Amino acid sequence: MINFPFVIVIFGATGDLAKNKLIPALFSLFKEDKLPKDFFIIGFSRRELTHPQFHVHFESERSHEKWGEFTKHLFYQSGSFEEEKGYLALIEQLRQIDDKMGACVTRFFYLATPPDHYETILDKLLSTKLSEGCGQGSNKWTRVVIEKPFGKDLSTARSLDKKLSEIFEEKQIFRVDHYLGKETVQNILAFRFANGIFEPVWNRKVIDHVQITFAEKEGVKTRGRFYDGVGELRDIAQNHLMQLIAAVAMESPKSFTKEDLRDARAAVIDSVRIADGESVVKGQYESYRKEKDVSPDSDTETFVAMKLMVDTPRFEGVPFYVRAGKKLEKDFVEISIVFIQTCHILFKEYGCPEIGNVITFRIQPNEGISLRFIAKTPGAKLGLESVDMKFNYSESFGTKGPAAYEKVLLDIFAGDQMLFNRSDELDSSWELITSILKKWNSEKEEIEVYKEEQWGPELANKLIEKDGRKWLT
Ligand code: BG6
Repeated sequence: MINFPFVIVIFGATGDLAKNKLIPALFSLFKEDKLPKDFFIIGFSRRELTHPQFHVHFESERSHEKWGEFTKHLFYQSGSFEEEKGYLALIEQLRQIDDKMGACVTRFFYLATPPDHYETILDKLLSTKLSEGCGQGSNKWTRVVIEKPFGKDLSTARSLDKKLSEIFEEKQIFRVDHYLGKETVQNILAFRFANGIFEPVWNRKVIDHVQITFAEKEGVKTRGRFYDGVGELRDIAQNHLMQLIAAVAMESPKSFTKEDLRDARAAVIDSVRIADGESVVKGQYESYRKEKDVSPDSDTETFVAMKLMVDTPRFEGVPFYVRAGKKLEKDFVEISIVFIQTCHILFKEYGCPEIGNVITFRIQPNEGISLRFIAKTPGAKLGLESVDMKFNYSESFGTKGPAAYEKVLLDIFAGDQMLFNRSDELDSSWELITSILKKWNSEKEEIEVYKEEQWGPELANKLIEKDGRKWLT
C-alpha cells in the first residue's frame, strides 16, 4: 500500500505498453486499494486528445464498475517528444496538481515509448527542468523509469546510460525488465536456495543441460512499427532470456537485498557466452512481411535460438539451449533443468527412458514447478516410465500472484530497485547480443522462413539435435 500522493507521467501513453500493461496494472492496483487516495496519472503522447478521449482508449477496462471512479485520476497531455511546448503544458498541469495538494507531489516519469525517443525525452526533461522534480529545484522526489529494450546495441545502451547518469542519480533510475517482477521468476530463487535438497544437485556434475523456451502464439499484431526495428533478439533475448538464465545459474546472493542480488545477477550474466561453432539461429514467420507497419522486404527475425555456455565453476560445460519466437504453436514460457541420465545397471535391460530427471519451471501459463522422475509401471512385468510430480500456484495458493507490471509499479512507487536492471547487467548482456548483431550484419544471410503455429525454423531443431539432445516440447 502506497500512502503518499504521487503523479506518474507516462510518455507514449497511447502505445501498446500503456494500453495493454501499464494502465490495466494501475487500474488493478486501484481496485485492490493499493494506491493512495490522491494519485494522478498523466498520459503524454503526440495525438491531440481530450481527457475523456484518452479514457476511451482502454476498451477492456471501460466496462468495469470502478472505471468511472478511476478516470478521475487519469489525465492527458498532448505533445511532440521533440518540442518543448508539450513539456511546458505538462509543467502547468503538474503545478496545478501541486497547488491542489498544497505541496510538492512526488513525480515519476515513465518512458514507455519506442527506444528511439528516450534520449530526446531525457534531453527535454533536463532543458525544461522537469528532471529537477517538484517545484523545479529539488530532485528529492523525481524518478525516471526506462522500458526495455534499453538501447539498440552496446554503444547506444552505454550512451543512454551516460545521459541518464548525467541527469539523475542512480537511486532515481528504474530500468525495467518485467520478467524480474514475475512471481514465477522470483520463486526460482526460493526453490533453489530455501530448499536444502536442490543445492547439492545444482551443478555441472549432475546437470546435463538447461533448456529455455519463450514461445508466443501471437505475431506482432499492432506493434509492427516498433518490432520491425527491434526483432526478437533485442526484444526478448537481450533482457527476458538473460534474466531467466541468471535466475537459474546465479550463485547465492550474500543477502536478499538490492545490491547483493544485483551483484549475483550481474556476475552470472557476465559469464554467459555463445558456444563455439554454429550456435545462433534465426527465423521469420511466414506472414511477417505482410503485417501492418512492417517493411515488405524486412529481414527482422521473429525467432531466435542459441546455444550458450555459462562460464562459472558451477555450470562450466553445461549447455544452455534457449529459444524465443512469435507465432509459435502456443503461449508457453518454460525452463527445464535436464539431469544426466544415470539409469542404474539394475534396470538397464528393462528399458530406461531416454530422459530421466527434469526440473521444470513453468513461468506461464499454468504457473508452477514439476519434477520428472522414473517410476515402475503397474503390473507383474517390470517396466519403467517417466512421470511428473507437480506444484501449481493456483492449486496451492489459490492465486498465481499479481501481474508482473503491478509488482513493477509498486516497487517503483516504493523506491525499491531490487528487481530492476543495473547498468553492468545490461552492459554484459548487450556485449553478447551486439556480437551476434554484428555477425548477422556482416554475413547478410537469407533468413529461414518458418511455418506458423509450429515450433520455429528447422535449424533450431538441428542446433540441439547435433548434440544428441532434443527440445522437450
Ligand atoms: C515484452 C515484449 O517485453 O514481453 C513483447 O516486448 C512480449 O514482445 C512480452 O510479447 C511478453 O510478456 P508477457 O508478460 O506477456 O509474457
